[in-house]
Amino acid sequence: MADDRLILALDVPNAFEGLKLAEVLGDTVGFYKIGLGMLTTGGLSLANELKQEHGKRIFLDMKLFDIGATVENAVRGLSQFELDFLTVHGDPHVVAAAREGAANSNMKILAVTILTSLDRNDLDKSLLKNGKIPDLVSERAALAFEAGADGVIASPQEASTIRNLPEAEGKLIVTPGVRPAGTDLGDQKRVATPAQAVSDGADHVVVGRPIWKADDPKSAANAILQELSSPQAKQANRKG
Ligand code: C5P
Repeated sequence: MADDRLILALDVPNAFEGLKLAEVLGDTVGFYKIGLGMLTTGGLSLANELKQEHGKRIFLDMKLFDIGATVENAVRGLSQFELDFLTVHGDPHVVAAAREGAANSNMKILAVTILTSLDRNDLDKSLLKNGKIPDLVSERAALAFEAGADGVIASPQEASTIRNLPEAEGKLIVTPGVRPAGTDLGDQKRVATPAQAVSDGADHVVVGRPIWKADDPKSAANAILQELSSPQAKQANRKG
């Protein structure tokens, strides 16, 4: 059985390439994230195929944001696809509406706190409130949990603070922005290694380019899985 703590971000150009990669990886990877790029090129049918034919878990990264009624309807429609995780932006009205929409399914609603590719300078340009990013992420995470989120998406650099929030009890922390030591950061700014992310409290790490862009994606995935099973990945900061 694959170690589902690793989620592969399937940001390849189209569904055909996605399926080809999933076939190359076989049992090595058990959990796939399908994002916006893939959704516009057949992502939902790929999600279905990976789930039904290959027994994979699916994380649909739609990052929904709209008025509550629209979010609720969109999520209700998506509940029929037997998805495992769905992302919405972490604004409390969005999270609460998504929770309603997902009421009759097992789909977990994950709230995006602040994108891991953004730094303070980017937040200033978006006119987002002053304060240090880790503090803002914690505040947004707590509000999202209160609004009914099953978990949050955050940078691994914020995982330990979120894990220690009283509101985070029993909730999932999923961290993109994960880079094995020595690999290219791409546009990610707030990063950590897979071992560090898990030891700081992440339940799942999302890794994309370091695997799918590698010359040998299977070895790249295996190296990350090995790191997740190393003593460095011990979940040291967990409460209790
Ligand atoms: O290639 P890389 O490992 O950077 O991929 C990270 C994935 O996680 C991308 O699909 C990106 O859209 C997603 N993501 C992120 N930051 C968030 C939420 C999702 O990087 N806050």
